[in-house]
Amino acid sequence: MPTPFIIDTDCGIDDAVAILMALHHPAAHVVGITTLSGNVKRENVTRNVCDLLAYTGYADIPVFEGASRPLLQDAVLATNIHGPTGLGTVDLPESGKAPEAENAPAGLARLLAKHPGATVVALGPLTNIAITINLYPEIVRQIGSLVIMGGALEKGNVTRFAEFNFFADPEAVDLVFRSDIPVTIVPWEACMASRMNREQLAQAVGNTDRKGKLVQDLQEWIFRYMEQRYGEAFTALADPVAMAVALDPSVVWSRHDGRLKMDLSHTALRGASVPWDGGGMNIINELDMEAFVSLLQEVFTS
Ligand code: BDR
Ligand code: CA
Repeated sequence: MPTPFIIDTDCGIDDAVAILMALHHPAAHVVGITTLSGNVKRENVTRNVCDLLAYTGYADIPVFEGASRPLLQDAVLATNIHGPTGLGTVDLPESGKAPEAENAPAGLARLLAKHPGATVVALGPLTNIAITINLYPEIVRQIGSLVIMGGALEKGNVTRFAEFNFFADPEAVDLVFRSDIPVTIVPWEACMASRMNREQLAQAVGNTDRKGKLVQDLQEWIFRYMEQRYGEAFTALADPVAMAVALDPSVVWSRHDGRLKMDLSHTALRGASVPWDGGGMNIINELDMEAFVSLLQEVFTS
């Protein structure tokens, strides 16, 4: 039996790839998607998710729109990495699919009550999850597993110490970390192991059908950005690595039980995930790249 999956996303290029993986993997049954501001504004994120679902034949999956901004601080967007709409140069056909009338916390709480034990995969800032914990504390015991793409154990991608999703709303991360939700953290370093060039990506996702071709088209913006910035065209599939961990733990090469604490100071450390005393968090150290590529091939080329 597939596990019910709920995806919380700031869809984004790599979020879109991760969503496609969950839709097409036999271990998951996606019962809903919640959206929030992150890589791009909430309106763009919601449009991207609705159009993506319609384009791939999943228009019946409900979408719930959530946070328009972080809990306390001002929004930090990532339009340089994801393009002005969030999907790079890809212009999906307008689907006309609209989000549900219920907002993301209400939708998430209702879906979890209906599917206790569901896996929640958080691919953006944790604002929606934090608000839902506040409004509906019962979700803490209903979530089977919360898999989070976020944090950096050694070196961030926004500041020296902070990774984007955690930097974008550190107070929300703190709230989630102080709840009793069973979390798996997939930090930036584990994701960086998925670094690929155009040829490697083409081999992993193929173009036998429209979803493999779509992944390549989506990543093209990032290839060009990296080429301009670093003189080399490459991409790292952050959210897809987190989704792979949620779908098939055999992609994990090594992990440890530990505890992270959010740095909430208004210093250069803000948004850093600091290793702390204690355990109870499943923290991914290293990805098994071969297993990850096999999973992509299984999803995109079979
Ligand atoms: C994370 O930040 C976003 O830009 C990506 O979508 C991913 O979730 C990587 O730091
Ligand atoms: Ca994301």
